[in-house]
Amino acid sequence: MKRIAHISDLHFGCTNPEVVDGLVAELNADRPDLIIASGDFTMRSRRAEYVQARAFLDRLVSPWIGVPGNHDIAYFALPTRFFRPFRRYRRFIDARTEPTFVDDEIGVVCLNTVRSWAWDADWSQGRLSHDQIARAEARLAAFPDNVFRIVVGHHPFIAPPWNAKARRVGRADTALAAFQRQRVGLTLAGHLHRHYSRFVEGSDVRTDACDAASGHRLLAVQAGSATSTRLRGMEPNAYNRIVVENGAATVTVRLWNGTAWEDAALTPEGL
Ligand SMILES: [Fe+2]
Ligand SMILES: [Fe+2]
Repeated sequence: MKRIAHISDLHFGCTNPEVVDGLVAELNADRPDLIIASGDFTMRSRRAEYVQARAFLDRLVSPWIGVPGNHDIAYFALPTRFFRPFRRYRRFIDARTEPTFVDDEIGVVCLNTVRSWAWDADWSQGRLSHDQIARAEARLAAFPDNVFRIVVGHHPFIAPPWNAKARRVGRADTALAAFQRQRVGLTLAGHLHRHYSRFVEGSDVRTDACDAASGHRLLAVQAGSATSTRLRGMEPNAYNRIVVENGAATVTVRLWNGTAWEDAALTPEGL
C-alpha cells in the first residue's frame, strides 16, 4: 500500500500563510510515501516567489516530485520566456522538468505541459508534443510489470463536469490512448483550481488477459489549489489524499475549513 499527497497550484506570491503552515503541518504529520505537486508553484515566476516555494518544499519530510505550471515561466520578460523559460524552475524547484519516480509499488511519469508560445496567443494553455507522448510511453513501458502507473501534468487531461467544451491539454486524447495502452491507472493534474475526477472513457474495455485480471481502468484526477488565495468558484483550498492498494487508487479530497484540513463530502460530479 502506498499513500500519496497530490498538491497543486500553490502560487507562492499569492498564498495564505496560515494555509501554507497548515499544509506543511498536515503533510508532515501524515507522512505520505510521496508528495506530487502538479505545477504553478509561483504566481508570476518572480525570484522571491521561487524562494518561498523552495522554503516550503524544504520543510516537507516526505519525498516529493513535481512539474512546472504555466505560472512558473516569465509572462512579461519575453527574452526569458522564449529562450530560458525554465531557468528559475530548474534552479529553485528541480533541475528536471519531467522527473520519474518508481518504487516497488508505484511508477510515476511527470510531463511538462507548459509552452512559451501559442498560435492563439493564449499562453496559459498547455500542450504535449508527439515526441513527449512517445517518450512517456517508453518510460511507462520500462516500469516493472506489477507497479501501479501514474502520469502527472499541469494542464487537465479531462474537461470539467461543468464545461464539457473547456480546453484540455493539447493532444489529450492521443496522450490518454497511449496511457491506456501502458495500463496507467491514474492521471494527476491541476490548473483549474477545482477538484474533479472521472474514469476515462473506454478505459474499462479489456484488451488482454492481464487487464481483465486487474480490472484496469484509468481515473483522471484534478486537484484544487492547495494554498493560493486565487480561488475560482466556491471551492476552498484543497488537495488530494490518494491510497494505492491492490492495483486500485482511492482518492479523498482534503479541504481547508478556515482553521484545519478535513475530508470533503463529494458528489459523483466532484465538489
Ligand atoms: Fe494555477
Ligand atoms: Fe495553471
